Amino acid sequence: MNEFGVKYRIGIFGSSHGPCVGAKVEGCPAGAKISEAVIQAELDRRTPGRSPVSTPRKESDKLEIISGIHGGRATGGPIVGLVKNRDVDSSAYEAFLRVPRPGHADYPASVKYGGKHDHRGGGQFSGRMTAGLVIGGAVARQVLATKHVVLLAQTVQIGNIVTTKEVPFQDAEKVVRANSVGCADRVTAERMIEAIVKAHEEKDSLGGIVRCTILGLPVGVGEPFFGSIESVMSAMMFSIPGVKGVEFGSGFGAASMKGSAHNDQYSVSKGKIVTKTNNAGGVLGGLSTGMPIEFRVAFKPTSSIARKQRSVDIVDRKPVELEVKGRHDPCIVPRAVPVVENSAAAVILDLMLQGGFL
Ligand SMILES: Cc1cc2nc3c(=O)[nH]c(=O)nc-3n(C[C@H](O)[C@H](O)[C@H](O)COP(=O)(O)O)c2cc1C
Repeated sequence: MNEFGVKYRIGIFGSSHGPCVGAKVEGCPAGAKISEAVIQAELDRRTPGRSPVSTPRKESDKLEIISGIHGGRATGGPIVGLVKNRDVDSSAYEAFLRVPRPGHADYPASVKYGGKHDHRGGGQFSGRMTAGLVIGGAVARQVLATKHVVLLAQTVQIGNIVTTKEVPFQDAEKVVRANSVGCADRVTAERMIEAIVKAHEEKDSLGGIVRCTILGLPVGVGEPFFGSIESVMSAMMFSIPGVKGVEFGSGFGAASMKGSAHNDQYSVSKGKIVTKTNNAGGVLGGLSTGMPIEFRVAFKPTSSIARKQRSVDIVDRKPVELEVKGRHDPCIVPRAVPVVENSAAAVILDLMLQGGFL
């Protein structure tokens, strides 16, 4: 299952250490203005090897558009875009077919595919597959922008460093793009960077939380029952490697609130129906309310750590000590920020197309 969407569909292809990774996108309205520079800029935010908190794997991730965009406009045919894999070293990975790495897909994949899967660099389970999501999402966000729908993902937690600072959307966007952890608060960003570097020095890793905000969505976007905004968005988010939780608005916190506190009460502001609070995260009954869509995505700490870990030889069924070599992100979260933001754009465009909003 490598395709996602109903009217705006993204199919991702490639593998971490194969020739390339990319996406085939169908359903982009013909004639839509699509800038390859915008797609490249989004890819650059995800590209490895650009900061001390990222894997040292060096990839330029230069976008190649094979079809579907001509003269800066969507042709209506499939948009195929890819980036080549260049800095590939698969030597460490052979061993993991027999001795699976804790926290990776090695063991269940070996059983499911009988060891025939592409195991190099994590193959199709690698975080590198998300380059395709960024390509498909960066096309979608350009179509959404024409309808004044804008998205922003930001890091709000790394390990136990948390920010609750509310930074206005446009200021946050600038700061998020200017620091290497994607946090809208500069001071907290520095603390997050220090925490990641420290965890890495201790041969360990950290997780964290990405918050995503979507503004400008008209009321009524979403296709309940199973096409509700929450259902489809979380299916997309849970497809991103390393994601362990998704919550909208007050999320799990709602469980301990009373109805009187949780209900978002209506009022009218400048002729528009709004709510004073947004515990719903901008979604009721699976439909957009016109308030900002707000959700949070929890990432686990990176599985590959340089410490010795216990595993087993799945053929001999004997215990083995394992040291994971290779190059890894000490924390997935900073590079996942553009993945969350752009893949969310693909979901919203699909639901808007389905609902006849475009
Ligand atoms: C952008 C991105 C980069 C990632 N980089 C790494 C990495 O360097 N090392 C690692 O162990 N996991 C990394 N991951 C996560 C793994 O791919 C993922 O944890 C693993 O395939 C198991 O899948 P699961 O965590 O979804 O169960 C990355 C994920 C993303 C989204």
